[in-house]
Amino acid sequence: MATSVLHPAIFFDRDGTLIEDRGFLHTPEEVFFYEDAFLSLRTLKDHFLLFIVTNQPGIGRGILRPEEVESVNQYVVQRLALEGITISGVYFCPHTREQRCVCIKPNPYFLLKAAEEFGVDLSRSFVVGDHPHDVETARNVGAKGIYLLTGHGEKHLDELNPNAYVAKNLKEAIAYILKQDVLPSREVHEAAEIIRKGGVVAFPTETVYGLGADAFNPLGVARIFEIKQRPFFDPLIVHVAHLRALDQLVKSVPSIALCLIEKFWPGPLTLVLPKREEVPEIVTAGLPNVAVRMPKHPLARSLIEQSGCPMAAPSANPFGYVSPTTAEHVRDQLGDQVDLILDGGPCEVGVESTIVSFVEKAPTLLRPGGVPLEEIESLIGKVEVRLGEEKVSAPGMLPKHYAPRTPILIHWSKESLKVYQNKKIGFLAFQKAGNGLQRFDHVEVLSRQGDLREAAANLFSAIRRLDALGLDLILAESVPEIGLGRAIMDRLRRASHTLPQ
Ligand code: TXA
Ligand code: MG
Repeated sequence: MATSVLHPAIFFDRDGTLIEDRGFLHTPEEVFFYEDAFLSLRTLKDHFLLFIVTNQPGIGRGILRPEEVESVNQYVVQRLALEGITISGVYFCPHTREQRCVCIKPNPYFLLKAAEEFGVDLSRSFVVGDHPHDVETARNVGAKGIYLLTGHGEKHLDELNPNAYVAKNLKEAIAYILKQDVLPSREVHEAAEIIRKGGVVAFPTETVYGLGADAFNPLGVARIFEIKQRPFFDPLIVHVAHLRALDQLVKSVPSIALCLIEKFWPGPLTLVLPKREEVPEIVTAGLPNVAVRMPKHPLARSLIEQSGCPMAAPSANPFGYVSPTTAEHVRDQLGDQVDLILDGGPCEVGVESTIVSFVEKAPTLLRPGGVPLEEIESLIGKVEVRLGEEKVSAPGMLPKHYAPRTPILIHWSKESLKVYQNKKIGFLAFQKAGNGLQRFDHVEVLSRQGDLREAAANLFSAIRRLDALGLDLILAESVPEIGLGRAIMDRLRRASHTLPQ
């Protein structure tokens, strides 16, 4: 049986992307390629089928003749061929908007036609253009739209979906495309469609796995609470892929917050800022503020871009349990309840984002996390620390928030352990396992080198492994409270119990 191989493709809007937009072009003499066009396309030609799509309403309006458009197109294709670049096909739309064009805007007709004629895998394909409809057209078929600031790009920027990727020029777009190609984008496409329809998807971030829904769809968000069995008074973090999306969510960003954004986004830092009215109450638990972060993980970013909506997402664990750092963890606990789980491997950071609030008199740390407090303070000066308050702004900081089923102790004495004499005890060690550990039924070491970053990355998996062994008690060694050690100790304290009196 013949197998058909599907190819990834890139569709370029002709004017404003490959060649300068100089109005209606009648002859090849009027064609001026952008400086970076040849080099950019040459780096792509071995990986993608290349197409040109162009909107020529001048024909519909009687200003241009189809032959003129053909001759310009032909010239563009031949000139590229001289540079060793093959264009597989050129599609042009002769209609004006009034003629109810069915070719491109935002109808993906050309893309579907190319997919059929050339065996294009649209989910691994891109549309590059300087008009918001290029991005929408791409989205409609599960391809990825890339918006350029060349041509009319600057002019129409405010009509663009703020979650779309924007590139300064072709060169930047191509660098981005080459990075994206490694992603399993068929799955991301499916996930994005689920999100757009109000569904719930578990996805990887660099900190922990999140359970996401469209932040502007209260019903989708409600399902997150239902799945997690999370009380409605505990607000969610909203994830964005691009800075422009902040405008949809917050009223203002103080300059010191911007300073942190510049340095730590994308990355494990969440900022609490005054929310815009449009952000649904269910997301913020009725608070006038919203927590926002821009994750670094390429799958998270790709999912947000592709779905076109900011993503409300708590960690993907049942309420009160440790956060998941692998897709497996999510599958084990929430598997059949979520619509899809995107697997991006183990999370690099392993503990949740650092949360800093900018709605108090002074910047306030609400949760230590992936960005060390020291690094934040070195940029913006002293930050107030307010952890573990239950009623105010971070109800997620409930004392028992990260508790496994097995009791964990971080403080103990020989005396206090007497009741556990004949019981099964596990040990969560920070560094190398030392003497005297034979007494334990199982030992987990967070980082043999004593590296706090490595320890943080391993923390939740290690707790889960210990928790699965049916032990009676887990003893956890303290780590130095510097850098990521602060987040580790915070989670251990929340997970820990006091001994029964
Ligand atoms: O790294 C992370 O932050 C992960 C990944 C998935 O991004 N997310 C995460 O979300 O840890 P969650 O829901 O498990 O924890 C969010 C914390 C909660 O403690 C919540 O109370 C607090 O953020 N929070 C959310 N919105 C807030 C707001 N408007 N004001 C104050 N705290 C807020
Ligand atoms: Mg959580």
